[in-house]
Amino acid sequence: MLFYTMANLFTLTLFISSCSSFRLPSPSRLTLTLHTLTPTSHEETLNHHSIVVNSFPEIVQKAVDDILLVTGEDSWQPSDLLSYPPKEGWKESNEGLSDELLVVLIGDMITEEALPTYQTLLNTFAGCSDPTGSSPTPWSQWSRGWTSEENRHGDLLNRFLFMNPERIDMRSVECTVQHLITSGFDPGADRDPYKGFIYTSFQERATKISHGNVGKLAKKVGAENLSRICAYIAGDEARHEIAYQGFCTEILERDPEGFIVSMGEVMRKGITMPAEMMQDGHNKNLYQEFSSVAQDLGVYTAFDYADIAAHLVRIWNLEKLTGLKGEADKEREFICKLPDRYRKLAERAEKKKEKGRTNVGPKDAKVMEKTFKWIKKRS
Ligand SMILES: *[C@@H]1O[C@H](CO)[C@@H](O)[C@H](O)[C@H]1NC(C)=O
Repeated sequence: MLFYTMANLFTLTLFISSCSSFRLPSPSRLTLTLHTLTPTSHEETLNHHSIVVNSFPEIVQKAVDDILLVTGEDSWQPSDLLSYPPKEGWKESNEGLSDELLVVLIGDMITEEALPTYQTLLNTFAGCSDPTGSSPTPWSQWSRGWTSEENRHGDLLNRFLFMNPERIDMRSVECTVQHLITSGFDPGADRDPYKGFIYTSFQERATKISHGNVGKLAKKVGAENLSRICAYIAGDEARHEIAYQGFCTEILERDPEGFIVSMGEVMRKGITMPAEMMQDGHNKNLYQEFSSVAQDLGVYTAFDYADIAAHLVRIWNLEKLTGLKGEADKEREFICKLPDRYRKLAERAEKKKEKGRTNVGPKDAKVMEKTFKWIKKRS
């Protein structure tokens, strides 16, 4: 507390000294400076951002009503896609799935199963939380409705894996899920709804791409049921992506400087995947190795990262956004250049890898077994 008060004093001094100089900074420029300087000003930023995200309740309500599915009977449920016990031929229909693809699927399932973490995070965003647990506000309805849809993803993927006991070491997968929820995840949103929704705008699109690609690869090897499962999940992510990007559009209209500065901060930090802290208690590099398999299969790559950044720049029309004050316009230029920079980095990394690559194609079975306890040995 003392520290905060000291910081306050510091702000005040700064304010006075800047006012007494000849050129008075413009008010927004001043707020910008203050925002980045002190802990107290972070509270002020949060207050301001909270007011802005509460200035379009009808849009949030519309997202709840039009973008989310009607809960219950009318919504798809995991049982529509997987029935137990499976009919004859089930095991055979999944035999074409490589260990690598299963690893990616398991990583995706573990990510989805850590949903409690994401609902917790959503409820940390200033002004968007569900304060009672069943509050009637549009933001609270969104938080619960979104969670109820996402909850089906983990259930469905979990069930699919459970129904393939010859290939999957379910207990090891379950341990990883528990570890991940215990560890939690911090995307660096700092309770700021702007940063939070910029992150989710990116992240929902990333998961849509990733599930979609797993589905395509599954289809190629004749695993029709899995392919459909992934398509359904990707469809949910596509709707959620539109909602979060729409919320950001509203924020951008009302507070362009604040939005751009927040976006700059989010992009500089980098969008990390929510399963970053995954561990199975054995392999210290589990997440890196999972990501590298996903990248090798083309499920989620550095090029996708660049494409998503480009997509956000495009839909928010950042190239053509004019009239931004001070730092914010520089930040906008920085953001607009990112997609190209990411693409170049991705190309460079790929070239380097091509050179150093010794085994193209499936990884050695022994390496896979050692790396991923999730996968059972092939007999
Ligand atoms: C796989 O899909 C087929 C076709 O829709 C369906 O009849 C079958 O029950 C599905 N398998 C499982 C295990 O649900």
